[in-house]
Amino acid sequence: MRVLIYQAHPGAQHSMANKAMNAATQSVEGIEFVDLYAKYPRFDIDVAAEQERLLRSDVILFQYPLFWYSTPSIIKEWQDLVLEHGFAYGTGGDKLADKIWSMGITCGAPEDAYGADGYNGFALRTLLTPMEQTARLCHMQFLSPYVLYGALAKREGHGLSPHAEGWRRWLVALRDDQVSFESANALDVVQAENLNEVIQ
Ligand SMILES: Cc1cc2nc3c(=O)[nH]c(=O)nc-3n(C[C@H](O)[C@H](O)[C@H](O)COP(=O)(O)O)c2cc1C
Repeated sequence: MRVLIYQAHPGAQHSMANKAMNAATQSVEGIEFVDLYAKYPRFDIDVAAEQERLLRSDVILFQYPLFWYSTPSIIKEWQDLVLEHGFAYGTGGDKLADKIWSMGITCGAPEDAYGADGYNGFALRTLLTPMEQTARLCHMQFLSPYVLYGALAKREGHGLSPHAEGWRRWLVALRDDQVSFESANALDVVQAENLNEVIQ
């Protein structure tokens, strides 16, 4: 499958987790990688070019650090502009039908912060509901995101290596159509620790 990654990190020079993921991505052949902030520093997104990119892709991954329980703002801008009526949804808007929509998300907070009893109050999947429903409205298949919790604590030592290596395996499995969607979607989130359950 043709895999497209839209990566968005407004402070890329300070990144460790997404930087490690990007290095892993570079070792996988056949992935189309777009750094949204580098490509569109003034948010002047080329809608026609990005729609063309979507048309030639089967798997669309948004890779980003969780910011205020949501995406960095350029991903929202991308959604507002690129997912046009008549293209992605509405009358005649079936151009993305059956393509796969997923995310690679790094969270500063630890896993136990997410949930009714945690200090973030909601499960991460609940916070991602707008993304899931956007994919659904665009007739796309939503796939559980690949997630790193506790990114800030894992910056020291080798804490990021299993996550980056897992990201590499996840990309290869998506590209080679070796992901069990049923198993992945039975999990709220895919993590380095549960990858073996979802790769066939
Ligand atoms: C503006 C801002 C908002 C953030 N909001 C959240 C948040 O809502 N939840 C969370 O777990 N971490 C949050 N973080 C922490 C980042 O997600 C974390 O620093 C990032 O995932 C680490 O990845 P990196 O090393 O690639 O920068 C936030 C960080 C910033 C700068």
